[in-house]
Amino acid sequence: MTGLGLTSTERARTTAELSATQREVKQHYAAVARGAQTGCSVERGCGLPLNVANLLEGETVLDLGCGGGTEAIQAAQYVGPSGFVYGLDMTDEMLAVARKRAAQQHLDNLSFLEGMIEHIPLASHSVDVVISNCVLNLCDDKKAALTDALRVLVVGGRFVIADIVALKPGLPVQMRKDAAMIIGCSNDVLELDDYLRLLDQVGFVDAHINPYRTFSFDYIQQKAAERSYTTLLAELDADLVDNALAAAYVFGNKAQTR
Ligand SMILES: C[S@@+](CC[C@H](N)C(=O)[O-])C[C@H]1O[C@@H](n2cnc3c(N)ncnc32)[C@H](O)[C@@H]1O
Repeated sequence: MTGLGLTSTERARTTAELSATQREVKQHYAAVARGAQTGCSVERGCGLPLNVANLLEGETVLDLGCGGGTEAIQAAQYVGPSGFVYGLDMTDEMLAVARKRAAQQHLDNLSFLEGMIEHIPLASHSVDVVISNCVLNLCDDKKAALTDALRVLVVGGRFVIADIVALKPGLPVQMRKDAAMIIGCSNDVLELDDYLRLLDQVGFVDAHINPYRTFSFDYIQQKAAERSYTTLLAELDADLVDNALAAAYVFGNKAQTR
């Protein structure tokens, strides 16, 4: 199964082709995995996608941006020996943490792949469920990521992820980005309606988004202090950003006819 990961030549090419944002995100999470960066921990997801994914025994699951492997390992336990889980991440250091944890659990229905979620190194129609915890908001090309997630899903497959969305339309873009950085160490988030439009545009059906927790200005202030983002905080208008962003579950299916 590990043969499905990228070859060293492909890895070198992929790394060289990273956008400035992707390089920044990768460096950040490499430092997080090494314990050198404490702002956003290895465990820093924005939700519990497995609580809403309804995984079944025997299913094949893909965890986009698996980080230290928390969800992928749990998913491997849910789908059991007749199922299989792929954890995909671009950061070697995170994958090393994930592999070490999986080895400690003696799971052999789980494989961690190095690669980009915008170019998933898996065959089309090979996955029953795509999960992810707080990663899409880190992508600068969310359309590419969603398109490739749909590609790898089997007909009738499910996309069930936790992400951060903007609830207040018209929040100035820079303020949205700054608040997203403080809350989720993320470079930008989509407005809820734009997210739904994008899911529809790439071909998901039954797309819906359930925000389950908004972030108050008090919370943003607290996170800014913890993560040393006081300069960013100073740029924010308290009333505008108060409860403007939310953690949400995002759902979509691959149509039966596709
Ligand atoms: C916020 S952490 C989330 C980790 C894990 N899902 C969790 O909840 O603990 C984000 C992870 O996504 C990975 N990541 C971010 N953008 C990515 C991309 N475009 N392709 C692959 N991995 C990516 C990072 O390397 C990092 O490990």
